[in-house]
Amino acid sequence: MQIKSAKFVKGLVGPDKILENNIPKIVFIGRSNVGKSSLINSLTRQKGLAKTSSLPGRTQELNVFLINDNFYFVDLPGYGFAKLSKKDKKWLHELINWYLFDSYNEHQKIVLIVDAEIGPTKDDLEILKALEECKKNIIIVANKEDKIKKSLYQKQLNKIQDSIGDHKIFPFSSKTGFGADKLLREILE
Ligand code: GTP
Ligand code: MG
Repeated sequence: MQIKSAKFVKGLVGPDKILENNIPKIVFIGRSNVGKSSLINSLTRQKGLAKTSSLPGRTQELNVFLINDNFYFVDLPGYGFAKLSKKDKKWLHELINWYLFDSYNEHQKIVLIVDAEIGPTKDDLEILKALEECKKNIIIVANKEDKIKKSLYQKQLNKIQDSIGDHKIFPFSSKTGFGADKLLREILE
């Protein structure tokens, strides 16, 4: 399966009619700066579709993209960015939690992105546990695999696997496109 078209629909900061329709939603979550927006651009092969930045805290809304005219990608703000003001951090955490757990939205799949070089953080593991408890359909991506030293590659992937339990890990690089076919198959199947 391939992505043939992708377009930005709107950015949300709360309830919206678009969340009530029956169009399947594939949601991308993860730490700030882990590469959620870059991954969407890489999968859709549209460089500027989702706004990215080397500075954490770039995405501040729930950005909705229509894919192949029949489902949505939802790009979430990142969590765990220490440098935001207390107020902004609280607001973003509330927005993420509301959308994932309280908005009664059907999420077809939730793609949790961790940093392949750093491995899952405490925040990643906490959100994973919460998603598991809600029986969400979870896909785990280890993005920035291009940054892992080749000599440590397998060891690092094993370490990530050990900390996340039974989920399959999809190594990926938004920079090189590594892993795109396998990940797309998993997301779109
Ligand atoms: P927030 O919106 O702030 O939560 O960040 P984000 O998770 O959407 O990250 P974003 O896509 O904006 O990327 C953050 C930085 O990581 C940018 O400088 C990207 O170029 C870089 N980046 C993203 N993916 C990769 C990757 O696979 N490899 C490398 N080396 N860098 C990447
Ligand atoms: Mg982003």
